[in-house]
Amino acid sequence: MTRPTPAVRERALSLPSTALPAYLYDLAALREHAGAVRAALPERVELYYAAKANPDPEILAALAPFVDGYDVSSGGELSHVHRAVPGRPLAFGGPGKTPGEITTALELGVRRFHVESAYEVRMLAVLAERTVPGARLAVLPRFNLPVPDGSLEKSALAMGGRPTPFGIDPAEADAVVRLLTDGTYPRLELRGIHAHLASGLEADEQLAVARSVVVWATALADRHGVRLAEVNVGGGMAVDYTRPETRFDWAAYGKGLGELADERPELTLRIEPGRALTAYCGWYATEVLDVKHSHGEEFAVVRGGTHHLRTPATKGHDQPCSVLPVDDWPHPWPRPAARGDVVTLAGQLCTPKDVLARHVPAAGLRAGDRVAFSLAGAYAWNISHHDFLMHPRPGFHYLGG
Ligand SMILES: Cc1ncc(COP(=O)(O)O)c(C=O)c1O
Repeated sequence: MTRPTPAVRERALSLPSTALPAYLYDLAALREHAGAVRAALPERVELYYAAKANPDPEILAALAPFVDGYDVSSGGELSHVHRAVPGRPLAFGGPGKTPGEITTALELGVRRFHVESAYEVRMLAVLAERTVPGARLAVLPRFNLPVPDGSLEKSALAMGGRPTPFGIDPAEADAVVRLLTDGTYPRLELRGIHAHLASGLEADEQLAVARSVVVWATALADRHGVRLAEVNVGGGMAVDYTRPETRFDWAAYGKGLGELADERPELTLRIEPGRALTAYCGWYATEVLDVKHSHGEEFAVVRGGTHHLRTPATKGHDQPCSVLPVDDWPHPWPRPAARGDVVTLAGQLCTPKDVLARHVPAAGLRAGDRVAFSLAGAYAWNISHHDFLMHPRPGFHYLGG
């Protein structure tokens, strides 16, 4: 799925220049991938999609047959996902929930909350009594757990196992469990434990983290003589932008989760990946505007840039890409072309940070050739600073819908 699929390639080459850049999503490829992920997971493992990775309604809808629900992290995501996939279960998490957001969630029927502090538990209890009197809510405190030594070392984005604003410190775990079980808030049910500790972990690292979360959660519950129905071990399955042909080993992960689930038949395990579900279905297609030499290196300036596809700038990688040569040159002026073998692909912004990929093997790259950047289906358009320099927005195409 890294080289453009036939549908994406055809669209990237047939759009007029003025319709570029464009995000091209292959929904058929997304469905195939999500189906394979679902098939690799044991039945007893629930799969929620972390909508923050890509909340486009078409993406949310394409995933619907393969996921048990959606993880949302703001009032905006909540209302949006509720509209896009009506009636599907939502889990509301994320730090700093406002009273307004919680009230909206309750009004929209959300009955499952990942709480990030004891303060949030108290606020939720009062707002629930006011907004949906009598309703019972499933509450999963998110804990910032200690993790096995070294298990987050390779993570690009560690949110747990060290000081962060995410989740509840384990030192407060007993107090939070008491708050949820001593009758103070009878409508709040301690359904389980939530932990999303890092993004970018491979299957063996994910399994080590999942196991330690389950062991910790079970010990906590035993200490209080309560029964947990669920443990949510989070998302963060790796997407390797330096080896775009590789995939997270869902088969190994599913097998390991199956073993963990078999050891605890009373427990439902849940995961909430974002990036590893949708990254591979999106391409950012554009055309080369100019090719130039600078101090011994060659640069191609493409239409658009990191204001549309911020992923390489924010993660510090080269976005994988394919050149789609275009022989036609409609202009009366000469066509610039690369003389060397490698070219750095930069965008139209007036900042040296606007680089999409460095030293790409692209001998002979010409103005007018097209480039399709892959792995652009997650944390791409939706994390970018669209209005900087006021260039036009890209087009959006959902293929195979
Ligand atoms: C609580 C939570 N769950 C799930 C995710 C999804 O992570 P990823 O897209 O790396 O799978 C995130 C990402 O930040 C998160 O904060």
